[in-house]
Amino acid sequence: MAAATQHYHWWQDGIIYQIYPRSFQDSNADGVGDLQGIISRLDYLKDLGMTAIWISPIFPSPMADFGYDISDYRAIHPLFGSMDDFDQLLTEVHRRDMKLLLDLVPNHTSDQHAWFQESKSSRDNPKRDWYIWKDAHPDGAEPNNWLSMFGGSAWEWDEHTQQYYYHGFLKEQPDLNWRNPEVQNAMMEVMCFWLDKGIDGFRVDVIFHMVKDDQFRNNPVNPDYQPHMNNYDQLLPVYSTDQPAVHEIVAMMRQVTDQYEDRVLIGEIYLPLNRLVSYYGVNHTGVHLPFNFQLLVLPWEAQQIATVIDQYEGSLPEGGWPNWVLGNHDQPRIASRVGYSQARVAAMLLLTLRGTPTIYYGEEIGMRDVPIPAEEVRDPQGLNMPDLNLSRDPARTPMQWNGQEHAGFSSAHPWLRLASDYRRVNVEAQEHDPYSMLTLYRKLIQLRQQEPALNVGSYTPVFADRQMMAFVREDADSRFLVVLNLSHRTCYFKPKDFSFKGRIEVATLPERDGQPVQDKIDLSGDEGVVIRLESA
Ligand code: GLC
Repeated sequence: MAAATQHYHWWQDGIIYQIYPRSFQDSNADGVGDLQGIISRLDYLKDLGMTAIWISPIFPSPMADFGYDISDYRAIHPLFGSMDDFDQLLTEVHRRDMKLLLDLVPNHTSDQHAWFQESKSSRDNPKRDWYIWKDAHPDGAEPNNWLSMFGGSAWEWDEHTQQYYYHGFLKEQPDLNWRNPEVQNAMMEVMCFWLDKGIDGFRVDVIFHMVKDDQFRNNPVNPDYQPHMNNYDQLLPVYSTDQPAVHEIVAMMRQVTDQYEDRVLIGEIYLPLNRLVSYYGVNHTGVHLPFNFQLLVLPWEAQQIATVIDQYEGSLPEGGWPNWVLGNHDQPRIASRVGYSQARVAAMLLLTLRGTPTIYYGEEIGMRDVPIPAEEVRDPQGLNMPDLNLSRDPARTPMQWNGQEHAGFSSAHPWLRLASDYRRVNVEAQEHDPYSMLTLYRKLIQLRQQEPALNVGSYTPVFADRQMMAFVREDADSRFLVVLNLSHRTCYFKPKDFSFKGRIEVATLPERDGQPVQDKIDLSGDEGVVIRLESA
């Protein structure tokens, strides 16, 4: 009798692609990407094998934090297009059998949002309590020591009403008071507005920041702080983030989402593993996928990574689905962190691990961080702490489509400068090059999608030392061995208690594709292989 095949949701056996809309494709020659631009590139994404697209915020915004400061949750910023453009995008995505995720930013609004304008108009305004207002200490000092992620105190004095308001990010991004049921309802209605339109879910911005300590106690000093770190890291955000009551809010969002069919919630959460997994919620009442940023924060060292993969696998709640991320619009690009050659190994890791992979635009062609001259820096995190190299601009530069002027991104001068090597590093140049990053991504994606063992099969660690790691992915029908050299030096893989025989299915060095291997394998620096094992 054939075993019943398990059904997987698209967010489990699919691949997610993150678009930073300012930088993907401009269609109206203003140097900023837009929705029509994205529509014109959907065939590329479909052909690449992407299941879902997540677009960073496209809503009206003064752009103090490039869209993460929203002044209207139910409209489209004219810079990106109109609501008609959005509807067309959604239709076109669905027509290609893909999914569309939007960015929900519930923790804070823009200071230009009508809610905040009302809230700050007077102490007895009905929306006063929608934000977090506190008296000064008798000497005028801030209510507590909490710091903003973007530098300085998290409290801003309002002269007019003689109180401070709290902002975990810019002062132009006041935090909402999520303990207020009216705020909860208002944001749930925002979710319904987009879900009713038919979007397939949300990536929820800093979901772990949404609830703060009800007594607003001082955060403790971080004993590990060093001056090169973000100013924010001087304190441990024990009372300002990850409060137990946040899970009630997350559950509320999940309930709303579950009223619709097959939608997903992904939470942006920078927390240690044991805290991270609590966001799955008890009995699946949390987000479907708490973003797992371990590959972004760990040193690129085989043993450490292998250990954390095991810890992650071991800490998932029953039925909790894993996921992996190599980059996003807030972090240095992978090809800059580990180098171009090693980024091929990183791609192999991402696309052979158990769990939904998210690809950040440009990773598939090996885009690197672009040095932005000081006078061109746009990111507030970079501008506010100019000596700490914290600007996120380098990872947000325009997509490199071809070797023509402005890399095919725009016919106008782009809002942020392009990589100087875009004439060599671009989609068109890599499309038919068997040695390119894009070709490697395509092979890995295709293999993952053809082989349930690699996509949704089990994960078994085999070996790890300071240079390399190896693991097996398998299901009832097939078995793959993945061996990765995470160092630049050659090494031999010859495990003592593990014998194997098979054929290389995909190698970072394409010359090795198809090679038979048995019991040992030698690897160049920066090399990785996916081996199809013969059944025992
Ligand atoms: C998230 C976003 C980041 C933004 C911040 C404040 O971390 O990813 O880009 O600046 O939230 O909204």
